[in-house]
Amino acid sequence: MTTVAETPTRVSPRHGFDSLDDETHVDGLPVSGAMPPWLQGSLIRTGPAKWEVGDRRMEHWFDGLAMLHRFSFADGRVSYANRFLETKAYRAAKEKGRIAYSEFATDPCRSLYQRITAMFSPNLTDNANVNLVQLGKRFIAMTETPIPVEFDADTLGAAGVAYDVPGHLTTAHPHMDRATRGMLNYAAKLGPRSSYRFFLLPPGAAKPRVIARHPVSRPAYMHSFGLTGRWLVLAEFPYVVNPPALAFSGRPYIENYRWRPELGTRFHLFDRTTGESTGPFETDARFGFHHVNAYEDGDDVVVDICTFDDAEIVEDLYLERLRDGKPLAEPHLERFTIQTRNGTVQAERLIEHQMDLPRINYGRCNERPYRYTWGVGSADTSWIDRIVKADVTDRRGSVWHEEGCYPGEPVFVAEPDAADEDAGVLLSVVFDGRKGNSYLLVLDAASLDEVARAEVPHHIPFGFHGQFARG
Ligand SMILES: [Fe+2]
Repeated sequence: MTTVAETPTRVSPRHGFDSLDDETHVDGLPVSGAMPPWLQGSLIRTGPAKWEVGDRRMEHWFDGLAMLHRFSFADGRVSYANRFLETKAYRAAKEKGRIAYSEFATDPCRSLYQRITAMFSPNLTDNANVNLVQLGKRFIAMTETPIPVEFDADTLGAAGVAYDVPGHLTTAHPHMDRATRGMLNYAAKLGPRSSYRFFLLPPGAAKPRVIARHPVSRPAYMHSFGLTGRWLVLAEFPYVVNPPALAFSGRPYIENYRWRPELGTRFHLFDRTTGESTGPFETDARFGFHHVNAYEDGDDVVVDICTFDDAEIVEDLYLERLRDGKPLAEPHLERFTIQTRNGTVQAERLIEHQMDLPRINYGRCNERPYRYTWGVGSADTSWIDRIVKADVTDRRGSVWHEEGCYPGEPVFVAEPDAADEDAGVLLSVVFDGRKGNSYLLVLDAASLDEVARAEVPHHIPFGFHGQFARG
């Protein structure tokens, strides 16, 4: 009898894009290693979890119906709960078995009559699957439509629209205003005279206040923005839309955007106190989703962003391509130094490793010079398979990687009263392609050594962002 040696094959991440239907609550997840005793509170994440509705399948990773996931840490134990975010979009899918709202790259089924009606009263989705924030005692899940959804962090039940966004598009990456503990965010108002806007929502306030506005004819796709002590930083990548197209093209949201590299990348700075803008400061065309951090260095403004060479990544993230394992564009951590005195922008790649979904020690370092950021990447053009730490002072990267495992955004949680910027842990939900389930990984944020992991009884579909709420 002969035996044939098995050729090791790379474990596919594709089942990380499988829908998850079950809502569960587990009091004590099996834990290996030891959770730090100071880690008390909850990691709450949102992300797409269901891409099939009735006999249709959504087109894009960003389209899936939002599910909340909560890992709670207390005295070394970890509990887990997950629940669909009960939005209009989710209820329509569940009760009527159809996609009723236009998602990022998927349109609802509409008759001609419904299409015409929708032009005049668009049914914007409230499928808040991108990120969430804690504003005072409130928890708010967000996407890029102006319908932020408040939810109860204990029950994970949705509690309606959180506030009115002063515009038609917004970001799911607001910043904290240190002075008021309020939330700063961006909005685009679209119409015959479109404008970029920034607004402030203090905790407890019913309505946001617009603090800056700027006219624009072809708004750029905007996923996040930067903040320094003095400035709101808008990076206008040349992936732009003609506003009437959004209303009248009849195509899903993102299909209306066009890559126009001849426009270059344009930085605008808005004074946080007066709202006055300066710029644009121009450099070559790029694309990016995520600002990492920004700060002032004398008259210069330093802006770190995870960038791509172009907007092809949007195409790369269509589900069919992801499930087929097609190559993905590579994100890199890039520093833009805006010299406001002479109007130039210098660009520099900070580390060689790929990196996106960046986090920093936010409470300590946002708006300020900093040294460390953590994100995810890959060694090649395949799916994310490593956690990356960047030392932006020494321009060095280090990596956590486990064969067959696919980590999500590493959320940094600072150890209370620690002296060092990187003293704390990273919390990342990892899909284990070998076993088909996910686990919550706890890494030492300084060394990237594993501290502990907690096994989840099922897979958690690849998601985007979350926040740690101290208990
Ligand atoms: Fe994001």
